[in-house]
Amino acid sequence: MKIVVAGKGGVGKTTIAGTLARLLARRGHSVLALDADSNPMLGISLGIGPEETDALVAVRQGLETGETEHARSTEGFVGRFGRDAPDAVRLVVASRIERPDPGCPCCGVSPERLLGELEGAGRIVIGDLEAGVGTLLRLRDGQADLVLLVVQPSAKSIEVARRAIEIVGSRLPLLVVANRVRDGSDFDMVQAVADGHEVVVVPEDSEIERADQDGQAPIDTAARSPGVRAIEELAALLARGYALPSTASPLAPMAPGPAPTPRVRQGLGPARLH
Ligand SMILES: Nc1ncnc2c1ncn2[C@@H]1O[C@H](COP(=O)(O)OP(=O)(O)OP(=O)(O)O)[C@@H](O)[C@H]1O
Ligand SMILES: [Mg+2]
Repeated sequence: MKIVVAGKGGVGKTTIAGTLARLLARRGHSVLALDADSNPMLGISLGIGPEETDALVAVRQGLETGETEHARSTEGFVGRFGRDAPDAVRLVVASRIERPDPGCPCCGVSPERLLGELEGAGRIVIGDLEAGVGTLLRLRDGQADLVLLVVQPSAKSIEVARRAIEIVGSRLPLLVVANRVRDGSDFDMVQAVADGHEVVVVPEDSEIERADQDGQAPIDTAARSPGVRAIEELAALLARGYALPSTASPLAPMAPGPAPTPRVRQGLGPARLH
């Protein structure tokens, strides 16, 4: 199963990807988290801390300077450019290399190709993509099984979402994650662009932001916060393998208290984990 996390810059892709990876691993899945951003930060959201994240990024960048040996196989790639994160998630950094060796499978490889190669038996690969729609445009059949489109209630994020939904079309199941939602009008704004796709709400959560400021994973510092609990519901929804029918009443204005139940619209059929 290959899940790609896409959306405009700064909308919460890395936060969602990292937290979801940890939660799916806790549910017993084998999870590989692929950081395909040119500014790789997924390690922080996974809970290995800024120093370890930087160290892993430096190994990847060492390809440019000759300090890192090239990897010749997929498993070699996972070993050289990866490390274990909490809950046994394997983090692999695959940021783009400016001057790849022609024909080298490790430095010239694109994230979309890697997704398929890293999938392996029974493994879930979660790809934290570069901001924007570039990778979605390049995705070929079979390179992803599900798009998680993270959308914030802002005009620019909505515009990127509109383009992403158009690009993906009916080729792949797509689930909209409405992130940093504060109230019903925020939700309505995201839902309006969702074009019938399921929408899962992750509320605005100051504890998520604080974790980020401290270089920590929200799941480690704010496990019971409304935002993390909403991502837990997203993990449960994916693991159940089918979309919940819409039952929720309109979102109340966000107040401290229990996490809102993710609100889901119109099933698109199963997005099975295996
Ligand atoms: N639900 C939330 N509530 C509050 N803050 C959030 C929430 N989700 C994400 N954030 C904050 O938003 C900021 C951007 O999040 P993140 O780095 O995950 O976005 P991104 O889409 O990966 O960004 P980029 O495009 O730069 O890679 C971070 O400071 C993060 O803590
Ligand atoms: Mg990011």
